[in-house]
Formats: sequence, structure tokens, C-alpha cells
Amino acid sequence: MHDVVLAGEVNVDIHRYGDPKDLAQGAADFVLARGSAAQADGGVFSVALSGGSTPEATYRAMAERAVGTGLDWGRVRVFWGDERCVPPEDPASNYRMARLALLDQVPVPEGQVFRMSCEGDPERGARAYEATLRQQFGVASPPSFDLILLGLGTDGHTASLFPDSAALDSHGRWVLPNYVEKMGAWRMTLSLEVLNAAAAVAFLVQGEEKARVLHSLLDRGEQSQSFPAARVRPRGGELHWFIDAAAGRDLVGG
Ligand code: 6PG
Repeated sequence: MHDVVLAGEVNVDIHRYGDPKDLAQGAADFVLARGSAAQADGGVFSVALSGGSTPEATYRAMAERAVGTGLDWGRVRVFWGDERCVPPEDPASNYRMARLALLDQVPVPEGQVFRMSCEGDPERGARAYEATLRQQFGVASPPSFDLILLGLGTDGHTASLFPDSAALDSHGRWVLPNYVEKMGAWRMTLSLEVLNAAAAVAFLVQGEEKARVLHSLLDRGEQSQSFPAARVRPRGGELHWFIDAAAGRDLVGG
């Protein structure tokens, strides 16, 4: 079941699932279908993966469905929405999680997987990733991903755009280093300008600990600075929320 509401220039599609397993399978089918659609005219599917724990089951479900979906993995380019500034073999690495859950199981050419690398110098890493985006997309304005997957923190953060962090107010940059005070750690993140240049964005949100923040965002239309996720309004017009019953517990309409 899902609701579609028009919020300004963005269609908000809420896809509800009973449990995390159904969410992962529904989200996996959605991503694969989006990929095939992006390739329909012979093009490439450019996707930015989310980090955190929620997407792992979706990536595994994608790997299980990798064959027979019509998606040509040879024409997929894989990027990340954000990364922790740790080595690629670190258990905290978003790259490592996606590689183990999905990328090691599907035939995406190595040269089309673009890891965010900020374990040395976050500023230099951010500028290098921005250079990669400029080179890959061949554009002077923020690149438009076919799809960006995002998670949602209980504080309303998404990617590594945390409440009241400097990265939120940056302009003109596509990729930013961001020191997260409460974690005492550096991260790298796509900027809001890039998130909002996307054709489509899909949030994957599960668990009752997300119920309050989801209610604030979707029912109360929380737009304050303290909710970075509220500022994700993809110009492509498509904003999808994949949620399980626990996360949707406090939503009007249940
Ligand atoms: C990260 C993510 C971050 C994550 C949220 C939700 O690198 O951790 O980009 O934004 O999506 O914190 O994380 P969970 O899915 O683990 O709840």
C-alpha cells in the first residue's frame, strides 16, 4: 500500500511494508526497476547508495534478484551518498557493507564503482570525489543521479548531513567533508545541492526508533533546520519513502 501526496513540486510516495524483510524486497525491486528504466534508451543507471544498517538487507535482496531483471549491470555506475572516513576494510565502512552485500555478487565493472575515500584527508577526499563526479557526469552544475538511496537518523539527519552542521549551509560544493561532533568523527557526504538534483530519491526507514522522526517529517511537515532530511526535495520530482510498520507506527493513518 502506498500514498502519493503532492508536496510543492515533489511527489511524495510512501511505500509501506509489514516488516523489514518485505521492505527490503520491495525496495530492491524498486531499485532494479529504476535501473532498467534508466537504461531503456541505452543509457547508464547512475545510483548513489546509502550507508548505515537499514539498506544492507535491500542490497542483499538486490543481489538475490540480480539475474533476469532486465538490468544490465555492465551499464550501472555505483556511487555513495556518504562515507565514514575509515579504510575500506573497516567494519564501519559503507563501501565495505555494500561490497559484501551486493557488489561482490553482481557483475558491475570495477571501473564503475566509485568509492568515497576520506580516510586520509577529508577535505582532499571530498574535492577528489567531486572531480570524479565532474568527470563521470560531464556537467558543470550538480549532477543528476537517476536514484539516490538515503537513510534517516532519529535526529533527522540523512547521508552525513547532521542537524546544525556546517555542511548544511554550504553552497557551490557537491561533496563535503563534515566533522560530526557527537560522533567525534569525520565523514564525507554529497551536498544537499546534489541530493536535490536527483531524478528520484528513496529513503529506507525501519524500526520503531524512527517512528517519531518520521511522524515529524511526514505528518507535521517539519521543515526546520534541525531536520536535514526535510530539505531533501529532488527537482526530478520523485521522493519515495520505504517504511516498515514499526517506523510508520505514529503516522496519521497508522
Ligand atoms: C551512515 C548513513 C546515515 C544512515 C542513518 C540511518 O553513513 O550512517 O548515511 O545517514 O543512513 O544514520 O542509519 P540506520 O539505517 O543504521 O538506522
